[in-house]
Amino acid sequence: MRIIKVSDYKQMSQRAAEHVIGKVRSSDCVTIGLATGGTPEGLYKELIEDHQMNGTSYRCVKSFNLDEYIGLSKEDTNSYFQYMCSNLFSHIDISLDHTYIPSGMADDIQKECDRYENLIEEAGGIDLQILGIGANGHIGFNEPGTSFHSGTHTVELTASTREANARYFSSLDEVPRQAVTMGISTIMKSREILLLVSGKSKQEAMKKLVENEVSEQFPASILKNHPNVTIIADSEALELI
Ligand code: F6R
Repeated sequence: MRIIKVSDYKQMSQRAAEHVIGKVRSSDCVTIGLATGGTPEGLYKELIEDHQMNGTSYRCVKSFNLDEYIGLSKEDTNSYFQYMCSNLFSHIDISLDHTYIPSGMADDIQKECDRYENLIEEAGGIDLQILGIGANGHIGFNEPGTSFHSGTHTVELTASTREANARYFSSLDEVPRQAVTMGISTIMKSREILLLVSGKSKQEAMKKLVENEVSEQFPASILKNHPNVTIIADSEALELI
């Protein structure tokens, strides 16, 4: 794992954007894995600005999101589909037909998980996966204890993850209890991974990631076994290291 230390959230977002833009410009048809949450919002802003100023085109780019809440329709303002439209897709020239997010409304969720996993494979896998990290070490919605062999699957969200995400909802009660997420093995099959980490709330996670052994109790630790991981972390997140 290569760690790039930057001063703050803005710089983290800019460095990440340079990386993504370089990848998109280097080949016509890149497949990118996308994350939601607070961490990549700045990155998406930078990508939009670059698209508007420099014309970087996403016409041929495919994207696969890490996860989606179970029970929220595409129209729900808190669905990750809506998050992606308002934070990125509506502002660049990506074709919505090339963007994939698991459905949290499928009648047969297991079938949906298998379909999603197959879609990623059929697309030739993910070239660059963008990740954030939960305070408990989750990546995607793979909570502590998730098997490293897991493919796309459903999860029960932990209380701490629901609390952390409650800021987007009007009350904690409204935060869904389950989600569909790419599994650890799905994420690990990506050819390259870019993990973004910012702020005090991620200090402990960052320390554990660097210092602890690889363990299913701390899902992000598996990234140590991937040959091409870059972490862009700001000084607050790196304060305990
Ligand atoms: C989001 C995701 C999660 C987040 C993590 C950090 O698609 O898969 O793993 O990356 O919960 O969230 P933030 O960035 O809001 O701190």
